Amino acid sequence: MRYTKLGKSDLTVSRICMGCMGFGDAGRGQHAWTLDEEHSREIIRHALETGINFYDTAIAYQSGTSEQYVGRALRDFAKRDEVVVATKFLPRTQEEIEAGITGQQHIERMINKSLQNLGMEYVDLYIYHMWDWLTPIEDILDGLNRAVQAGKARYIGISNCFAWQLAKANAIAEREGWAKFISVQGHYNLIFREEEREMVPYCEEENIALTPYSALASGRLSRRPGETSERLEKDAYAKFKYDATAQQDGIIIDRVAELAEKRGVGMTEISLAWLLTKVTSPVVGATKLRHVDGAVKATELELTEEEIAYLEAPYAPHPLAGVMAQNKPVNAAGKHVWSVGSQKI
Ligand SMILES: NC(=O)c1ccc[n+]([C@@H]2O[C@H](COP(=O)([O-])OP(=O)(O)OC[C@H]3O[C@@H](n4cnc5c(N)ncnc54)[C@H](OP(=O)(O)O)[C@@H]3O)[C@@H](O)[C@H]2O)c1
Repeated sequence: MRYTKLGKSDLTVSRICMGCMGFGDAGRGQHAWTLDEEHSREIIRHALETGINFYDTAIAYQSGTSEQYVGRALRDFAKRDEVVVATKFLPRTQEEIEAGITGQQHIERMINKSLQNLGMEYVDLYIYHMWDWLTPIEDILDGLNRAVQAGKARYIGISNCFAWQLAKANAIAEREGWAKFISVQGHYNLIFREEEREMVPYCEEENIALTPYSALASGRLSRRPGETSERLEKDAYAKFKYDATAQQDGIIIDRVAELAEKRGVGMTEISLAWLLTKVTSPVVGATKLRHVDGAVKATELELTEEEIAYLEAPYAPHPLAGVMAQNKPVNAAGKHVWSVGSQKI
């Protein structure tokens, strides 16, 4: 495994981050395809053996059971100071807003709950999961800074935001002397490259780490069109992100398969080797032990400039999908855009 620094921090992370959204009680959350604790532990143990030291979970994943499984496994199989643990918090709920809970209080409640779920005294990276349009950014940043000052979070990161939001937040944090975001977890892979417009160059300029999620487009960049899996069948959220552009994306996926055959490797290796030329550490999901090996092998594969250009050539701009499609001011009812109707998350 190869390692690198996470942006300006002193955290040393593996070039692959283990995405833990697929671990958790399948009966208690957004995803019906998640692995139970026994199978989650096997994957985490194997990931540790291959040298993966960077783990990404969230309080939102299967009602905190992902945090619980990940925390127990890491406590059992690793030393705390040899792993880098990231988790994420959600925006304030409507009930909290109505009860007058401030952004600062909300963050304190959220991190206390996450630390309890993980069974840990601190997280290495505490991530603002999605922009909260109903809470002043000053309150969020102040709350996060308090978590850092209290020793509950070593660093803070952000996810699902526009470059202007990150730039604005870090400018306020700089002015106030608060902790700044050191990493961004955006949606970025070979068939969804909208981050390249603003976010990638901004992060290069500021030495902010890019740790993109859905690095394999939730499995679509790991298998030929037509091949399926339990997750591909059941993952309604990923269908919502990718189905509308499936035909256009098929050309790129075919090229991944073609290069995989030519180089004698799996499609996963090609897709991740491409992303590794752009980012610090992609967040990769796994539902089988061999998935971990595919991700690890990708860190050893070097694509030529011609191969990179061949993979990139067919891409055409995509409409924003998933959480970023809902990153906009409140709706007419004064509520979060994503809190109503079919786009509920
Ligand atoms: N910040 C956010 O809003 C956000 C959103 C989404 C995800 N995330 C994070 O990113 C992580 C990854 O996201 P993701 O699961 O959507 O995306 P992903 O990494 O793009 O896809 C993972 C899927 O790819 C397939 N796969 C992986 N390795 C493979 C291999 N070697 N061979 C064949 N298939 C392979 C598996 O599909 P099958 O299971 O179908 O076999 C696996 O479930 C999550 O766990 C989470 O930590 C964050």
